[in-house]
Amino acid sequence: MIDDIQPKAPDPLLKIINMFRDDPRDDKIDLGVGVYRDEHGQTPVMAAVKEAERRLHAEQRSKTYVGQQGDIEFLRLMGELAFGAAARDLVSIQAVGGTGALRLGFDFLRAAGAARVLLPTPSWANHPGLIAAAELKQVDVKFFDVSTQRIDMAPLLEGIARLAPGDGVLLQACCHNPLGADFDTAQWAALAQACAAARVTAFVDVAYLGFGDGLERDADGVRHILAHVPNVVIALSGAKSFGVYRERVGALYVKAASHARAAAQSNLFALARSNYSMPPDHGAACVRTVLADAGLRAMWSDELEGIRQHILKTRAELAAARVNALPMQLIAAQKGMFSTLPLTPAQIEALRNEHGVYMTDSGRINVAGLPARDMERFLNALRAVAS
Ligand SMILES: Cc1ncc(COP(=O)(O)O)c(C=O)c1O
Repeated sequence: MIDDIQPKAPDPLLKIINMFRDDPRDDKIDLGVGVYRDEHGQTPVMAAVKEAERRLHAEQRSKTYVGQQGDIEFLRLMGELAFGAAARDLVSIQAVGGTGALRLGFDFLRAAGAARVLLPTPSWANHPGLIAAAELKQVDVKFFDVSTQRIDMAPLLEGIARLAPGDGVLLQACCHNPLGADFDTAQWAALAQACAAARVTAFVDVAYLGFGDGLERDADGVRHILAHVPNVVIALSGAKSFGVYRERVGALYVKAASHARAAAQSNLFALARSNYSMPPDHGAACVRTVLADAGLRAMWSDELEGIRQHILKTRAELAAARVNALPMQLIAAQKGMFSTLPLTPAQIEALRNEHGVYMTDSGRINVAGLPARDMERFLNALRAVAS
């Protein structure tokens, strides 16, 4: 009965967000929530997206449903942007943000007979909940040591070899959340080979295209997987790359043998239909409008490059700092919004309570959320707590 329902623990990130909100100090620093912030601490709407919205508002004649697959031109343009020519052979469906694409993808894996998903850990805090919701068994494999900040490929490749054919392996394409540690070319090649040899599905989560090494190079890993692994599922988020977080822009792409494509597409339709039926239109329509127009596309990629440069600058400043024994210099080599500092729970709590510096309980900092004006204070707070 509803009256007997048991409470759930709050999402750990939402807990930090609420603590930050309720902290009365004027000089508090929020490195918890995962959104990009500019030099002024703002997350502005990109000018290219604003212009796309203006055009849509002026030209849109109907608000009827977008259809089962969603915005087909959006899917084509996003697919081409991320995967190049390989996009042509993929089955696709628009989703409710990258999170919705992940959920749909896990449901799809389950429908295709998978029992397990290998999760390289640490990973994004929401991945386990999404895997569990699809009733898949999560197989954790620790592939990164936060104290040394190094990727260890051996357990990952051994873990893949132990999976059954059809099981899934979740890989983040670029700008790893929460580690910032990305696979290099040789590591992607080894992963592709291991997935193909074990006949498992590579499930690639692409959420930060353009935030690391630039649009093209950030897609190298997922393109390599597409070229070498027979079964691939890709969840794409437009939230960060287009700054449209709340619009829930996402898509799911599936690589299957040509004889299985129609069946795969029909399964995606059925899964979406029994969940939310049709995807939202506005965010995807904005992205489609930006990508379809040469002028808006150029404007957008300049803005995205500005974000990337800002992150690089912040990373370089953090990496140049000396903070007792913390391996700060490695932050420069890491990519995207996040890095995870090797801090103890007591140090993380002291940063929060004594210095008003908020990060997740795991020590993840949003590098892209640290304004230049707060840099020195953040470093001094770190020096005070980390011996
Ligand atoms: C690794 C990763 N995947 C997927 C997503 C999903 O993004 P959204 O649902 O906002 O599109 C996020 C967002 O934080 C993420 O960090």
